Amino acid sequence: MALLETQNLTYVYGEGTPFRMTALQNADISVEKGELVGIIGHTGSGKSTLVQHLNGLLKPTSGKVLLNGEDIHASKAATRAARFKVGLCFQYPEYQLFESTVYKDIAFGPRNMGLSEAQIKEHVLRAAEFVGVKNDWMEKSPFDLSGGEKRRVAIAGVMAMEPEILILDEPAAGLDPRGRARVMQMIENYRLTTGKTVMIVSHSMDDIAEIASKVIVMCHGAPVLTGTVQTVFENSEKLVSVGLDVPQITRIFLRLKAAGENVRTDIYTLSEARRELLRLMQERGMLQ
Ligand SMILES: Nc1ncnc2c1ncn2[C@@H]1O[C@H](COP(=O)(O)OP(=O)(O)O)[C@@H](O)[C@H]1O
Ligand SMILES: [Mg+2]
Repeated sequence: MALLETQNLTYVYGEGTPFRMTALQNADISVEKGELVGIIGHTGSGKSTLVQHLNGLLKPTSGKVLLNGEDIHASKAATRAARFKVGLCFQYPEYQLFESTVYKDIAFGPRNMGLSEAQIKEHVLRAAEFVGVKNDWMEKSPFDLSGGEKRRVAIAGVMAMEPEILILDEPAAGLDPRGRARVMQMIENYRLTTGKTVMIVSHSMDDIAEIASKVIVMCHGAPVLTGTVQTVFENSEKLVSVGLDVPQITRIFLRLKAAGENVRTDIYTLSEARRELLRLMQERGMLQ
C-alpha cells in the first residue's frame, strides 16, 4: 500500500463563474515511504493545486486523496490528522512569518499540535539545526533577517511539526544560485537524517535531477510521465513536448557527443558529470 495516493483527483476553481478553470483532471499519483519525489511541470500545470490537496487544504471536486490507505476527507479526525502528518510549505513561505521572534514562528506548528513546552522546544531546536538557524537568531524578529534567512526559518517551521511527509512548493524560487544550492542541500540533509518522505515542487530540472528518487512530470492537470531521474530525463522528446527540458548538465554531454566525443549522455547530476570527465581524461592520458 502506498503511503500517499491520489485517485482520479479533479479540481475546478471558480465553478459556476465565468472564470471556471479545471486545474487538475483525473490525476493519479502515488508516493512510497522514504521517497524523495520531485514534481516538475510548466507554470499552470497544476503542481501547486495538487500539493495543496495532499494535506487537505483543498478538497477535491471529485476523486480521492488516501493517506495510509484512508481517505483524508472520510471524517473530521482524518482531515485533522492529515494536516499534521503531511507538512506543506508554500511557495515564498517567508511572507507567512508573523510572530515576534524566530523561536515563536518555528514553534507555531508544534504548538498547534498540542505538544508540551519541553517537546515544542525539542522540535524547534531539531528543525533549526536542519536549516542552519543559529541560536542567536531565536530571539530576533524574523523581519530583521535577510530574504534567504527568512526562507530557512519558514521551512524550519514546517519541519518542526516532524510530518511523515514534508512537501515544499518551489523552496528555492527567487534565491540566488548559492541560496538555491543551500536550500536544496538542507532538504537532502533533512531527508537523509530523518529518513522521512519528502516531495519537492520545482521547475528546475537541475535541482530535481540532483536529489529526487522519483520524478513526476505534470502537464495540463495530470501526471504525464513518472519514474526515476534516469527514465524521465531519457525521455527528452516527451519533456520538450510539455515545455520542459533535460538538465543543463545533460545538454552539455549531448553537445559533446554531437561534437564527436566518446561520452555517455545519461548524465544528469554534477557528480556523474565529474566522474565521466575524469574517465575521459584518464582515457586520454591527461591524468598522472
Ligand atoms: N486561486 C485560483 N483561482 C483560479 N484559478 C487558479 C487559482 N490558482 C490556480 N489557478 C489556475 O489553475 C491552474 C493550475 O495552477 P497551479 O496549480 O498554480 O499550477 P502550477 O503550480 O503548476 O504553476 C492554472 O491555470 C492557474 O491559473
Ligand atoms: Mg505553483
